[in-house]
Amino acid sequence: MTAKTAINLDIGHIGKDQTHLDAFGPFDAGPYDLTTWFDQATRDRPLELEIGSGKGTFLVNQSPEHPDINYIGIEYAKAYWRHAADRLRRHARENVRMVHAEAGYFLRNYVADGIFQQVHIYFPDPWPKARHNKRRLVQAPFLRDVHRILTPTGQIRLATDHLDYFAWMEDHAAQVSDIFDRLEFVSPESAGEGELVGTNFERKYRREGRPFNAMILRKKP
Ligand SMILES: C[S@@+](CC[C@H](N)C(=O)[O-])C[C@H]1O[C@@H](n2cnc3c(N)ncnc32)[C@H](O)[C@@H]1O
Repeated sequence: MTAKTAINLDIGHIGKDQTHLDAFGPFDAGPYDLTTWFDQATRDRPLELEIGSGKGTFLVNQSPEHPDINYIGIEYAKAYWRHAADRLRRHARENVRMVHAEAGYFLRNYVADGIFQQVHIYFPDPWPKARHNKRRLVQAPFLRDVHRILTPTGQIRLATDHLDYFAWMEDHAAQVSDIFDRLEFVSPESAGEGELVGTNFERKYRREGRPFNAMILRKKP
């Protein structure tokens, strides 16, 4: 994405950034009511979160499949966040808001307990070098943070093209087996024929012939 194309993007009311988070009030007064980002009449809908939305393909395709669910996407790369918010605005996806924030920071400081029925994490950065593995998003402490924000039977949905990262996910999922049951992955309705999820990265990696793996972690009752 070039700077020139980014200038023409319009995040409209779909895009939210630190100014919108600051508008909730003093930092330690949180957690905040994220539903106020949506139209008044739709604020009691179930909420779902996507972490690392990239160009927003999953949210563009999945949100019209479930018009009675409100979705929040998080993306920390500013150019991708702007691209995704602009795309969702052009597609009039009124049940989606796209936040420019780092996921851990957002979860810890702005998200109340028990509000998301699903958290989608598709093709997270694999950080393949051993010395960078510690930067991986999916780790036991992070899974415990996500557990806090899930509804009583809420789910985390994970998919990756990276075999070593999948083995790592399995290991970290086992470390939180006291609070999560592991289930077989079921593709979302928006996935195309033969697709696992149908994100941009999946489509790119499919052309390269990479294998995919996925799992669901469901909060134990
Ligand atoms: C490999 S891309 C996958 C994008 C998209 N999910 C897909 O499948 O096409 C991973 C994305 O997650 C974002 N990301 C990584 N770590 C993040 C974090 N801690 N908070 C928010 N976004 C993050 C990256 O900027 C990147 O856009």
